[in-house]
Amino acid sequence: MYPGAIAPSIFLGCEVHLSMFSSSPRSPMVKTIIEPFRIKSVEPIRRTTVQQRQRLLEQAGYNLFLVSSDAILIDLLTDSGTAAMSTEQWAAMMRGDESYAGSPSFERFRAAVQNIFGFRHIIPTHQGRAAERILFSVMCGKGSIVPNNTHFDTTRANCEFVGASAVDLPIPEARQPSLLHPFKGNMETMPLAELIEREGRERVPLVMLTVTNNSGGGQPVSMDNIKTVKKICSRHSIPLYIDACRFAENAYFIKLRESGYAEKTPLEIAREIFSYADGCTMSAKKDGLVNIGGFLATNDDSLAQQEKNLLILTEGFPTYGGLAGRDLEAIAVGLNEALDEDYLSYRIASTAYLGEHISREGVPIVQPPGGHAIYIDARAFLPHISPAQFPGVALAAELYVEGGIRSVEIGTLMFGAHATMDLVRLAIPRRVYTQSHIDYVVEVILEVWHRRAHIRGFEIAYEAPFLRHFTARFRPLSPART
Ligand SMILES: Cc1ncc(COP(=O)(O)O)c(C=O)c1O
Repeated sequence: MYPGAIAPSIFLGCEVHLSMFSSSPRSPMVKTIIEPFRIKSVEPIRRTTVQQRQRLLEQAGYNLFLVSSDAILIDLLTDSGTAAMSTEQWAAMMRGDESYAGSPSFERFRAAVQNIFGFRHIIPTHQGRAAERILFSVMCGKGSIVPNNTHFDTTRANCEFVGASAVDLPIPEARQPSLLHPFKGNMETMPLAELIEREGRERVPLVMLTVTNNSGGGQPVSMDNIKTVKKICSRHSIPLYIDACRFAENAYFIKLRESGYAEKTPLEIAREIFSYADGCTMSAKKDGLVNIGGFLATNDDSLAQQEKNLLILTEGFPTYGGLAGRDLEAIAVGLNEALDEDYLSYRIASTAYLGEHISREGVPIVQPPGGHAIYIDARAFLPHISPAQFPGVALAAELYVEGGIRSVEIGTLMFGAHATMDLVRLAIPRRVYTQSHIDYVVEVILEVWHRRAHIRGFEIAYEAPFLRHFTARFRPLSPART
């Protein structure tokens, strides 16, 4: 059991520790965690045969980004922008006021964001990376250094685009996939302090913390770590910014695993997280439960003015920032729904359920299961395929051919020679799939696991000069299925 944790693991349909749910409306005798919604509108998914999928994959050069989503049965490519919206969100969209300036939809959006995040200035953007671009353009320049627990790839790219260096400072435990640690998303604080001392405060215009840490396996950051990072920043008058995409999932992990938080609501925990920050960037496509949208927030009046000026240049007027009024309404509702405890217990349980059911059969995954995704360790899954032969690409291809599941390689294809791991990420869209969909995914993974020795690697047939994973094409080194 994790230190300070209340429950070691939770599963849909299986036994859970009821102390977690003292404020739950469930009867104490009923242990099953259910999807906390019923389905009003359905979207058919198309079945294909193994032979059809083999042909489609071959036509796509074995790159799942190049397969039409019509031919995907269960799409676990990303949890970003793929959530199912609620009846309340669809109803709110009808209230959307599309006025260019001064829309009441913006007022409702700002009130909802301020109620949770508490920052003085809320600047809407079309998605997270637009907030990042504006933030780094205003705060950083050539020679700046931006430390983070782990920069997401768009964060790193936007940082480097303005000439700054993006420095990752994850705790060492984060680099060992099978190691259990309750807050593997934490930042290593001693090297942060040393970096600021060494480089000087002038070179570090801000420090960032990504909650949860997506590139580090969707792992949470503890409140204790956030407070320590804040203390170091305050000592040098450096602002702390939070990359808040999965703030609600992170808040719930704190409730489950950090002592002193079991009785607090996710909203109270989220407010405490942001009370230590000077601003944040947010992609609402994750814990905003919407298909598009984001924002940049700050307490600094002068920065906010410069940020709004840049916003007008490329995103739009500060009361809509590249979004429609109806999008702002949907975010205002979604942010609160993401903090609902019943939703969060189902969300974290359903991701853990997938991880637990494959790892108990021996499938190597990044432990413990993260909030939004399960990461299979493809190097350990396919030890006979060297990193140069793309074990992650080979495994993702097999999952598609076997069962129509789309996942994404995060390893040698994505990062080239810098890759320290070859992972296959199975990201779970919010409120989209039911337990039987996940049971199907488990069955497919185990089928592939049992015949893993026959899976072969790939070589590259085409690659673009940058971000090659989106468009690369491959040749199998020998028949992909035996
Ligand atoms: C941690 C993190 N930061 C930033 C982003 C960028 O957000 P967007 O895709 O909305 O631009 C993402 C998207 O996946 C993310 O996971």
